[in-house]
Amino acid sequence: MKPLRGLYIRTYGCQMNVYDSDRMRDILAPLGYASVDAPELADLVVLNTCHIREKATEKVFSELGRLRKHKEASGERMRIVVAGCVAQAEGEEIMARQPAVDLVVGPQAYHRLPEMLARLSRKTGDRLEVDFDVVQKFDQLPAHRHVNGPSAFLSVQEGCDKFCTFCVVPYTRGAEHSRGTDAITAEARELVRAGAREVVLIGQNVNAWRGAAPAGSGDDTWGFGRLIRHISKIGGVDRLRYSTSHPRDMDDELIDAHAGVEALAPFLHLPVQSGSDRVLAAMNRKHTAKEYLEIIRQTRTARPDIAITSDFIVGFPGETEADFEATLQLVRDVRFSQAYAFKYSARPGTPAAGMPSQVDEVTKDRRLATLLALLRQQAFEFNSATVGKVLPVLFETRSGRDGLARGYSPYQQVVHAEIDPDMLGTMVDVEITSAGQASLQGRARLGAAHDRELDGVIE
Ligand code: 5AD
Ligand code: SF4
Repeated sequence: MKPLRGLYIRTYGCQMNVYDSDRMRDILAPLGYASVDAPELADLVVLNTCHIREKATEKVFSELGRLRKHKEASGERMRIVVAGCVAQAEGEEIMARQPAVDLVVGPQAYHRLPEMLARLSRKTGDRLEVDFDVVQKFDQLPAHRHVNGPSAFLSVQEGCDKFCTFCVVPYTRGAEHSRGTDAITAEARELVRAGAREVVLIGQNVNAWRGAAPAGSGDDTWGFGRLIRHISKIGGVDRLRYSTSHPRDMDDELIDAHAGVEALAPFLHLPVQSGSDRVLAAMNRKHTAKEYLEIIRQTRTARPDIAITSDFIVGFPGETEADFEATLQLVRDVRFSQAYAFKYSARPGTPAAGMPSQVDEVTKDRRLATLLALLRQQAFEFNSATVGKVLPVLFETRSGRDGLARGYSPYQQVVHAEIDPDMLGTMVDVEITSAGQASLQGRARLGAAHDRELDGVIE
């Protein structure tokens, strides 16, 4: 059946944008908008953009050029909205350069979309909304959640006060803000009701979360480790994850949660960016390589099998061969299960963009290739070590590859296996039979749908 109004949202960038796109769908559903598969079928197209690395703005403009043709073909019926971090940073320029754009809305203002769309039809009101009213945003988003599979994101924290010198996030997403414990608990329950089995607590600096403790808990404030314990007690939350963390906010309570909370996946994404103290200081990361290694050591003491992943930047201004070698050494010391590595890209308005001794592209390319080769080798070693083990896999989709289903292990590895169709969306014990650098293959144990024993369920 054709929806009343077709909605097409294209999401770029991080998990926060994935969450925001889901919430935009939730907020537009009561107006009759339902997702369609292609922009040309849509009445409303939203580009939810990312500003973190280079060429972001240019990509948005070329996408807008294509959309403009669809808009013309629709007899100007199609509405085009630019959302996300490029909207926040370059809103005025977008409006000026591409007249086909109807609305520009920043990441803390998209709860105003229904009202802005209504005003647009009446040709009144602002077409650009980039305020930072994060409290109002969460208050005004609908309680109802729609989930697309058994794993769902739940935003608990937004913004960043860390001001790493390379990063635009503190400017596009604003100051750190933690959502209240009750609102988070209610949303987690709603996600379970809507069909989620895994909840991923997300935030730009998720482990900087701090909140008022619920009445009767005997505490004043809670840190993130305590929140994890609380959410893990909600019946139906079979697996919990969180991302992205900052090393400075890895406190004992969070590390202990990895030892004591059964539902918490043995997985930690902890960006380090560089292994050189000189570069870390210039990046304003507020920790040394040794301090990072110590956090990893403590986390592995709490949970010996934990998978550690990270983000790296090569070619930060002033990075020497010795600095880069220190990064390789840190990688060898930690042994990551997976990691992302990026070439440094100068972002307008950030302190590092104006630093002297910018590294040339050839050197950046070479360092990136060297680092990626080492990280790929480590990913292969980590994956190979799980061959022969039986892991609970949460199956999310059919991969299309030989009709196999695709899911995730507790260590966030992609696992392909043949399963009964009714096992899709559930946790299944799978014996891992082979491993590559990017995924595992396994054999489902029949009749072994995995369920967690709960003690002290919160109703
Ligand atoms: N250049 C390259 N990589 C960057 N990141 C953030 N800003 C930049 C930049 N200017 C990377 C960091 C961060 C990840 C989300 O993106 O590694 O952890
Ligand atoms: Fe950017 Fe640093 Fe904040 Fe992460 S911690 S969002 S890299 S400024």
